Amino acid sequence: MPELDHEHVAIRTGPRSGLPVIVAVHSTALGQAVGGCRVWRYADWRDGLTDALRLSAGMTAKCAVAGLANGGGKTVVAVPEGTELDPALRRRVLEDVADAVASLDGTYATGPDVGTSPEDMAVIGERTAHVFCRPVERGGSGDSSPATALGTLAALRAVRHRLHGTPALKGARVSLVGLGSVGLRLAGLLAEEGAELLVSDIDPAKRAPARELGATWTSPGQALTAEADILVPAALGGILTGDVVPELRCAAIAGPANNQLATEPVADLLHERGILWVPDYVVSAGGAINALAVELRHETPEEARVRVEAIEHTVTELLHEAEHRNVTPARAATDLARRRLDAARARRPVT
Ligand code: PHE
Repeated sequence: MPELDHEHVAIRTGPRSGLPVIVAVHSTALGQAVGGCRVWRYADWRDGLTDALRLSAGMTAKCAVAGLANGGGKTVVAVPEGTELDPALRRRVLEDVADAVASLDGTYATGPDVGTSPEDMAVIGERTAHVFCRPVERGGSGDSSPATALGTLAALRAVRHRLHGTPALKGARVSLVGLGSVGLRLAGLLAEEGAELLVSDIDPAKRAPARELGATWTSPGQALTAEADILVPAALGGILTGDVVPELRCAAIAGPANNQLATEPVADLLHERGILWVPDYVVSAGGAINALAVELRHETPEEARVRVEAIEHTVTELLHEAEHRNVTPARAATDLARRRLDAARARRPVT
């Protein structure tokens, strides 16, 4: 279980659904906490709590490094194994989430995440205004995955530049683990760029769209340890373990999956092996950047896109700083987040 340095954690049995609803508000030092709502299966609800604690801390770092005036939070609904989430139960779950969010009086706003969609956000939006990414026709900014994919592409350009002196991804050997809503879009963008793509997913049905893109299909295990310029984790977290590090045959790792490291010291193991790891929360910020730009600052999609593409610059700067200080990019990123959080706290002293 991660350290508890969260401002507020609300755990309740949803009165309508009977399922554990966990809302973790990690930090509001930079502003309203934001972070998606994960509806996922857990063997034990405490595993869902662990996820919520880690993912919300990740959102704080994500917003801080992206330069957003927001803090981090996360919602997890821990669906027990064997519970079938039919449409009626799903609605009850979302209403429970909405009430949990509403009870926080705007200190936290939710959005989509693994297991939830813009339509689900519209259901939450029936009971609270503190929700992002409702469908465009219902007043929101819509699906966040295209922006997350675009932001990841921007990060990959920065990594490519660092490896080979050019941001162009044409001919880059990219191995992608996970073809979910972000992974598949990213694969499409990379195919357009002319990257040499090796792709994988636990769902064999993803093989057909992969073939359409001209990508080579393999198993997630093979993709993870394949020889590649850049390994892109785009599935669930925890993929980079101490055991996997010696098996890796990539020059760099950068992908949108949240919480890629099984444990924090893995960042040092990767560094020792000379593998460049860009922290997931820096790479995956595009979805949040876009939603907040459009919905909070009322920017045009074009203005939001410029902000998302600025992830390339953010990653370039982080890699420079890491090299200059001879520390890992992970360390450079946490230090940057810490500086921004400390500065915000100094401006807004606790009374
Ligand atoms: N769930 C996504 C993330 O982790 C995107 C998102 C978060 C979208 C918060 C809107 C608001 O970043």
